[in-house]
Amino acid sequence: MAMTQLVYYSKNTLDADDRGQLTNLREILEVARRKNGEAGVTGYLIFDKAYFLQILEGEKATVEETYRRIAGDKRHADVTLVDQRTIAQRNFSDWNMGSAMRSIDHEEVYLEHGISGAIDPTRLNGAKILSLATDLRDLEARRNKRSAA
Ligand SMILES: Cc1cc2nc3c(=O)[nH]c(=O)nc-3n(C[C@H](O)[C@H](O)[C@H](O)COP(=O)(O)O)c2cc1C
Repeated sequence: MAMTQLVYYSKNTLDADDRGQLTNLREILEVARRKNGEAGVTGYLIFDKAYFLQILEGEKATVEETYRRIAGDKRHADVTLVDQRTIAQRNFSDWNMGSAMRSIDHEEVYLEHGISGAIDPTRLNGAKILSLATDLRDLEARRNKRSAA
């Protein structure tokens, strides 16, 4: 089975009000996780007030269909494909859609990636977005482990 990994970014057009954004994002993630679970799609969603960066992985036709659906969603705009490549293994096998809303807790990771101010996705390629997502996921996993201990 041919597996693919797709990376895109888009402009976040959700209500600028913090509470409104969170409600919308919860809704998006709830549906995304359910649908991705059914479709065997995994990945990661990074977002701040301005942008979404998302990685989708799974069977090629399914990932492309999911991407087309997402690209037509009115809750974001200027959806831009950054990279798509064939993969032998998933990077986010445990996550139907992991997510990280940028917060002060993540700044060390952003700084390690040379991002000190706002995210400028036009300066990132697929490999950089993948590496940022992997590090955010690992940070989250370490924190969860510590709080469970
Ligand atoms: C930033 C963003 C990320 C999304 N990620 C996913 C996703 O990973 N999987 C998914 O099925 N839908 C995702 N969605 C939601 C889809 O756009 C769509 O609303 C949802 O799949 C329901 O589609 P339907 O109403 O045609 O069934 C995302 C939407 C946005 C705005």
